[in-house]
Amino acid sequence: MKKPDSNVMEKIISLCKRRGFIFPGSEIYGGLANSWDYGPLGVELKNNIKQLWWKRFVHQRDDMAGIDAALIMNPKVWEASGHLKEFSDPLVECKKCKRRFRADHIEGNSCPDCGGELGQPRQFNLMLKTFLGPAEEKANEVYFRPETAQAMFVDFKNVLETNRKKLPFGIAQVGKAFRNEVTPGNFIFRMREFEQMEIEYFIKEENWQEAFEHWKKEMWGWMTESLGLDKKNIHEFEVPDGERAHYSKRTIDFEYEYPFGRKELYGLAYRADFDLKNHFKEAPYQDIEAGEILYPHVIEPSFGVDRSVLALLCDAYHEESERVVLKLKPALAPYKVAVFPLLKNKPELVAKAREVYDEVKKEFTAAWDDRGNIGKRYYAQDEIGTPYCVTFDFDSIKKHDVTVRDRDTAKQERVKIKELKNFLNEKLS
Ligand code: GAP
Repeated sequence: MKKPDSNVMEKIISLCKRRGFIFPGSEIYGGLANSWDYGPLGVELKNNIKQLWWKRFVHQRDDMAGIDAALIMNPKVWEASGHLKEFSDPLVECKKCKRRFRADHIEGNSCPDCGGELGQPRQFNLMLKTFLGPAEEKANEVYFRPETAQAMFVDFKNVLETNRKKLPFGIAQVGKAFRNEVTPGNFIFRMREFEQMEIEYFIKEENWQEAFEHWKKEMWGWMTESLGLDKKNIHEFEVPDGERAHYSKRTIDFEYEYPFGRKELYGLAYRADFDLKNHFKEAPYQDIEAGEILYPHVIEPSFGVDRSVLALLCDAYHEESERVVLKLKPALAPYKVAVFPLLKNKPELVAKAREVYDEVKKEFTAAWDDRGNIGKRYYAQDEIGTPYCVTFDFDSIKKHDVTVRDRDTAKQERVKIKELKNFLNEKLS
C-alpha cells in the first residue's frame, strides 16, 4: 500500500481551485460544510466522464436502457427499500468537545480531535429530509434520494413494457444523490451531495454468479481502459458478512490508492430480488417462452462520478522537473487543444492564429491563449491536461503550417494547417 501523502492532496486541491476545476461551494459566505462547485474545467472533465460512461454502458450495448428520474420520490419508496429503517451509520459524540464521528472510522475510545471521552454509539439515518409544498408538517415530509438505484426498480415495469426488453437486461441512470453523511471530507471523496452512475442489471437467479463476473470485468475495463487509471492503484475488496449494505448478498468494493489512503472508489453488489420483491406485490416479469412469472435478480455496478474525478486527478497528477502535468487520457481532458499566436503584439500573427483557432474549435474543445511567453503557455496547458498545443509563428505565414506540441513528450512537429484537423483527430482517437 502507498503511504498517505497529504502534501500531494493539498497540491491537487490548490490546482483545482487555481485553474477552475473545483471550488469550495458558497465560498463568499464562508462555504457550506463540504460542498464543492465544479468550475469551467471541472464541469468539462465531469461531463466527459459521464458521456463516456453512457456511451460504453448504454449506447454500445443492446441490453441496456437509460432513464432520468426525479430526485425526490414518494416516501413509500424508501420505506419499501428499507432505507428509512436501515440506511444509517453508527455515530459517536465526544463528551468534551461535542464533535461527532463515525464510530466505525475511529480507532480506540477517545476523541481523535481533543482526546476526550466518547459517548455510546447510536445509529444515525443518512436520509436527507425536506418538505414538499408550503406546510412543514409530517404529511409533507419527503427525502432526497440517497442512491439513483431505486428509480430503476420503481420504473422497472414501465421500462420493460415500453422497451420490449428480455432478461438479461439493465437499466442505467446518472444523477445526483444525497446523504446526510456524519463525517464528510477528504475533498470530494465524501460529500453530502454527489453524483452516481448506476446500473441495475436484471437476470434470472441461476445466472447471478456469471453476471457478477461479467460486471466485475466490465468495471475493470471501465477503470483501466476508459479512464486509463493505473491498475496498480486499484484493489478489489470482498466486503465480509455483517459489513454489507442491508440489501446485498455479495459486494466487492473497488478501492483506489488516494493520497489519503486506500478507500472505496466503486461498488459491485448482488442485490438478489430484494428490491423488486419489496416494490411489486406481484412478480413483474413474465418469460413468455418458459411460461414463467418471476422476480428477476439484480447485479448492481455502482460508480461515483465525483470519486471518478478524484481518482483521475490523483492518477494523472505528475510533477516533472519544473512542470506539473495532468496526464489525462485525451478523451477526458477538458480541452483537447490550445492555440497560440507566437507573439501577442503582432496583429498579423494574432489574426491568422485566430483563424486556426476558430476552425479547430468547430471540432474540438479548444483554448486560446496569448499571454506571456510560449514556455509559460505550454506549462499552463500541461497543468490542466491539454494534450496538444498549436502555435502559429512567422514561418506559419509563409509555409501555411503550425507547430504542434505534445503534452506528454513535450516534442514538437510542424503540421500543415489544412491537415491539422485530420492530424488531431488521428492523435485524439
Ligand atoms: N446503489 C448502491 C449504492 O449507492 P454505495 O456504495 O452506497 O452503493 C455507490 O454508493 C458509490 O457512490 C460509491 O462506490 C461511491 O463511488 C459513491 N458514493 C457513495 N457515497 C458517496 C459520498 N458521500 N460522496 C461521494 N461519493 C459517494
